[in-house]
Amino acid sequence: MSDPNSTGGRGHGGLPTRKYRITFLPANLTCEVDPAKLPYGRHGRMGSILEISAALAGRGLEIEHSCGGVCACATCHVIVREGLDSCSSPEDDELDQLDEAPGHEMNSRLACQCIPDGTRDIVVEIPAWNRNATKESES
Ligand code: FES
Repeated sequence: MSDPNSTGGRGHGGLPTRKYRITFLPANLTCEVDPAKLPYGRHGRMGSILEISAALAGRGLEIEHSCGGVCACATCHVIVREGLDSCSSPEDDELDQLDEAPGHEMNSRLACQCIPDGTRDIVVEIPAWNRNATKESES
């Protein structure tokens, strides 16, 4: 069971008000997020990591999101390696889904629910099992 005190986020929970950068590992692809250009994609909460990742789809980045970004599948599980303190706090539904996510860690979040507030740059790792799913869906 997830510990709500250790799975993260103390950001203000709102959309960013200034530009910041997200780097996705292990591909090491970086996107500058401009609040004036949101939304970048159609899936997930506005300003979420999943929604922003759409900006890098043309460079081969894709985060699995079987439920379409409505917090009902946990396939969009990512690990926030840097900047978790600038992200929205997880709600109970997200914590319930993370309990079911394979390989979840203290800094695990659902990309479709996690909204960075833009007060610092963040680094996000896509877990190996998710990368494998992406690779298979492309073949
Ligand atoms: S896409 Fe299903 S929980 Fe995020």
